[in-house]
This record gives sequence, structure tokens and C-alpha cells, in this order.
Amino acid sequence: MIKKTLSAKPKKPDNQLKNGLLGWYAICSSKDINNKKPYNFTIYNEPLVIYKDKESNLRCVKDLCPHRGASFIGGEVIDGELVCPYHGARYSSTGECTNLSRITCNHIVDSNYDNYASKIHLYQYICKEIGGYVYIYYNGKAKTNLSDFVVADNINNRLLNSYGFDISSYKYEEVVVDFKCDWARIIENHLDILHLFWVHGDTIPDNDVNRDVITSFNQEITREENQIESKYKYKDKSKGEFIRIKFLPPGRIVIYKGEPEEARYIQVLDHIPLAKK
Ligand code: FES
Repeated sequence: MIKKTLSAKPKKPDNQLKNGLLGWYAICSSKDINNKKPYNFTIYNEPLVIYKDKESNLRCVKDLCPHRGASFIGGEVIDGELVCPYHGARYSSTGECTNLSRITCNHIVDSNYDNYASKIHLYQYICKEIGGYVYIYYNGKAKTNLSDFVVADNINNRLLNSYGFDISSYKYEEVVVDFKCDWARIIENHLDILHLFWVHGDTIPDNDVNRDVITSFNQEITREENQIESKYKYKDKSKGEFIRIKFLPPGRIVIYKGEPEEARYIQVLDHIPLAKK
């Protein structure tokens, strides 16, 4: 029998975008960011770049120069300012253009051009670097002023060490995989333990995982405000727990064997939806 322990009645989700979830997404490892070039990526079809500003804070901005709409790919970071590769506009960490005189030439467009140019400004998302990872708070609406963001959930609830896992004491490797499928499908796949035996039974080095022992478990689900945790326990009680899976919306899934403090194996899966589907 499947045992379900629902600690709180789920509220209607208030963190939904049209095609996914808003919130904190882990985008890349800190070592992917360098001081000279912007790091580019796409989330929900929106091209963005991350760079390090003068104070070594990470900035996540739309990959669209507000001057004439060029991409920042191929641009540079000089003295902590983002520099567009098309006409060399430079932007401060708060998003203002710092060399306006270089990019204004009113005869090219119209007599209002100087007026227009003085208003150009980068659009940003909140970006943080914590524990070797880079996170953005994504809601689909970049802003010119970061203080205009309403951050509905605390990033600390998403971090591995917030529930006892000390990443500094583990050896690990990072892999990036581009799954060509619907984002919700891959989340669902990583939460579905039963398919492991059949699909991955020949490749996972665990005697308990193979096609011959496909089995179901007693599942215990705990739902809290910011996470859902499933413990899969063998029906044969003498064998105890098989695996635990923690889903930390919007995109982080953590799979581990045993108590978080003592797990001998852990997988952290951060899902970044590249497109709207
Ligand atoms: S488009 Fe970026 S400086 Fe002109």
C-alpha cells in the first residue's frame, strides 16, 4: 500500500508563469563566469547574459543592447562595465549607459535621438552567486530597477546546505545535458523512480537496480510550503529505504541515498527551461 503523509493541504500555486514556474533557477557554475566576457544563455525563450560588475557582483541582463538592439554575445566586460560589441556602448552595474556621447548621432535617426538615447537602460533580473552556483530570480519581466522585484520565496530554502548536506565534503562532477523535450516532462522523469529499473537498469552500478528486480515501493510523501520530499521504502521492511527525492521548485531536484547528513551518493538536477515548451 502506498502511504502518503501530507503535512499541509496544498495551496493553489501562486508561482506560475504561463508556461512554467517563476522563482530561483540555478543557471550555471560560478566557474563559468569570467571577468572579461558575458556568459549567455536562454530561459523560456528569453536570451540573457550574466557578467561580473565592478564590485564583483553578478548581473543578469537581457541580451539586447538598448541602443540599437544588438546582442551582447561577442561583447566584453571592461572595468566591470558591460560593453556592447556593435557601437561600444558601456553600461554601469545599475544599467545606465556611461558613454552616451559616443553613441549619439542625431542626424542618423531623428531630431529626438539624443532624447531617446539618454533614456536607454539595461533590463535586469536579480542574480546571486552562492556556494559555487549562479542563481537568477526569474519571473519573465526584467526590470530597469532591481528594487522593483517582489521576491516571493527565499533562496536559502533552495540551497543544499539548508537541509544538512555539506557539499564541501564531497567529490563531485558537473554535467550539462540538453534534453530535447518538454520541460515538465523531464522534471516528471526525474521524479519518477520506477522507470529507473527498466530504462537504466543496465547502466546504474547497483545490484538492486536492474530489469529483473523492477519493483514498486512504499512511498512516503511530505509536502511543505517550499518543497516536496518522497521517500521510497522497500516493501520488505528489513531492507529499509531505497532512495529519497526532494523537489525544490521551480527547477531543482535532489536525489540521495539515506539521510541528507550521511548520504553516500547525491545527484542535484537543476532544470533550466530553454524555451516556452
Ligand atoms: S547596439 Fe549596442 S552600442 Fe549600439
